[in-house]
Amino acid sequence: MRVIHDSGEMTAWAEAHTGVGLVPTMGFLHRGHASLMHLLRPRCARLVVSIYVNPLQFGPTEDLATYPRDLDGDLRLCAEAGVDAVFAPSSLYPPGFATGVTIGGVADVLEGPSRPGHFAGVATVVARLFGVSRCRLAAFGEKDYQQLQVIRRMVLDLALPVEIVPGPLVRDDDGVALSSRNTYLSTEDRRRARSLSEALFAVQAAARSGVTDVGALTELGVAWLNVDRLEYLSIVDAESLAAIPTLDRPARALVAAKVGRTRLIDNVAVNP
Ligand code: PAJ
Repeated sequence: MRVIHDSGEMTAWAEAHTGVGLVPTMGFLHRGHASLMHLLRPRCARLVVSIYVNPLQFGPTEDLATYPRDLDGDLRLCAEAGVDAVFAPSSLYPPGFATGVTIGGVADVLEGPSRPGHFAGVATVVARLFGVSRCRLAAFGEKDYQQLQVIRRMVLDLALPVEIVPGPLVRDDDGVALSSRNTYLSTEDRRRARSLSEALFAVQAAARSGVTDVGALTELGVAWLNVDRLEYLSIVDAESLAAIPTLDRPARALVAAKVGRTRLIDNVAVNP
């Protein structure tokens, strides 16, 4: 497995090997990231994982400085998943960097108002990673469901030559969505973090049993939560992420909340 720290070297390697598939990450890898590698492995000739904590997507009061890192552990996980090259630059943007990708619509709701500039930062880094790695395929997890829709929008709008492969959300045994940020949780916080997935599963079950009023489903979900600050629990159109009054099409329930000082997100599919 090659470990590459420089953008120019990454591009040279990619151009010598056709059929690159990319899994973009910020490191501190877990089974959720590994599932994306296993998903792409049989579908590409060369599998690349990028590890880069992208400053552009963090707000001024967010956890950029303390974001967990473990490059040695990450390299072991990538080697076990059959990765051909890890791209782990210490800086990614060229001198004089002055370009940004902004996205409206799907980026303006849910996480959008809570994290101003976040999706512009994500779209910009992903566009650069696509360029540097010359990838034909890239995998994104449904853990970050809105991010997945934002990237799909960008690829469509800019006609980028990359196929987006979605991967299912991977959970721990207690139902909590795997996340690098779970490492911040105390034992007590971890117990309360379970209420996010419990709330979403309750919504899913109520929808299955025939409840179609989105207001009622939302209230039911909120009642399950045991968090310090609820940012949103929303049930929206699964593709456009637009609000819907009635569950009459494929939808998604998404939640963002703070447990202690940790901001957690989770989501499930909700079908009538
Ligand atoms: P990061 O949070 O490291 O996640 C990298 C990829 O792994 C994303 O596509 C994310 O959705 C996926 N992932 C994380 N936890 C998962 C889980 N429990 N189940 C399934 N997939 C999971 O998302 C980012 O990094 C960044 O925003 C990035 C796209 C790399 C741009 O900087």
